[in-house]
Amino acid sequence: MKTKQNEIREREILTELRNFHQKDITFSGGKILSSMCTKPLKIAEEARKIFKETNLGDKRISEGAIEIEKECIRWVGDLLNLNPAYGFITSGGTESNILAIMEARARKRNNMKESGEKEEITEEIIVPETGHFSFDKISFLMGIKVRKAGINDDFTVNLNSVKNLINKNTIAVVGIAGNTEYGAIDDIEGLAEICKGKNLYLHVDAAFGGFIIPFLKRQNYDVRNFDFGIEGVDSITIDPHKMGMNIIPSGMLLFRKEPKFSVNVSYLQGKHERLLGTFPAGSAAGCYACLKFLGEYGYTEIVRECMENTKYLADGLRRNNIEILNPVLNILNFNIRKEIYNKLVETGWIISKTSAGYTRIVIMPHTKKAHIKKFLKDIKQLTKNE
Ligand SMILES: Cc1ncc(COP(=O)(O)O)c(C=O)c1O
Repeated sequence: MKTKQNEIREREILTELRNFHQKDITFSGGKILSSMCTKPLKIAEEARKIFKETNLGDKRISEGAIEIEKECIRWVGDLLNLNPAYGFITSGGTESNILAIMEARARKRNNMKESGEKEEITEEIIVPETGHFSFDKISFLMGIKVRKAGINDDFTVNLNSVKNLINKNTIAVVGIAGNTEYGAIDDIEGLAEICKGKNLYLHVDAAFGGFIIPFLKRQNYDVRNFDFGIEGVDSITIDPHKMGMNIIPSGMLLFRKEPKFSVNVSYLQGKHERLLGTFPAGSAAGCYACLKFLGEYGYTEIVRECMENTKYLADGLRRNNIEILNPVLNILNFNIRKEIYNKLVETGWIISKTSAGYTRIVIMPHTKKAHIKKFLKDIKQLTKNE
């Protein structure tokens, strides 16, 4: 009801919320140097508003939103060498990875049923040591054992280690295209070769790299193949709310074949294939807006700038005699003393450390050259007596 009192109350609540938000650190400030999300496109925010009351989880009332989702899956399928493509918009990489392993389980159980196999297995998945922590959650959630495969010096998965971990309990092998700490791309072709003939589900986690690698290829960077062009890749996670420039939350999961997992829900008059029952169609609308607005050219230019800025930072660090790891994507790792790291954090820089102790920076689209210059100036000041 619109009364004077309600209007005042509304204004007060919004002021309270703005005050809370003042405590948050925003991407525009330029201090966030280790997030995999970024400031979304304005058009994505607008798109979300149009669909603010639509639940993508209820097919009876979201025909338009479902069409949008299909179009997004088709577009990203084309990008990842898959036509026709199946899949969903999700809330992000974690949900996509969960759904992928659920699908691997559904297929394994189906195959066992069809072939009359009675022996119970203790399901296991093989994930590189560099895998995202969502796989540890999957283990807890689904009661699946996660076997961690060893890694090579370049932080990619070691194929021999994967081979040695495969046994009758293995239901899926996971490869990563752009791992969280280093941006390294696993040898997905090698993994596919290992899985071939063993009826093993191969999932590629390209939550971060999915919206980068195809556009690096267009600029003739020598980066590994990772997509459905490789026979044997069953599903791919790719996140629009990372380098896809969409609003949070938005992930995507694409399947080569129509997924088998679903539950029947009589009150929704049909099958439900998602993980979340209720899902914001605004995420799909935002994704559609980004894909249409940027197109391949727009994404290529965004990736070009991120890589140029990564190189700019790398060169600046080298000039300060700081040891860096050669970046594959827009993630840069380097070696500085703990005291200097702590000083940078005290100064307000949002940076992070990898499990191996490197300082890790992710150069996202919100990070501009001016921010990097400022960061390098602080580093120079702090390391001048080294
Ligand atoms: C490779 C990879 N997979 C999965 C995820 C999880 O994504 P989200 O945080 O959207 O759940 C991340 C997040 O950083 C990631 O880097």
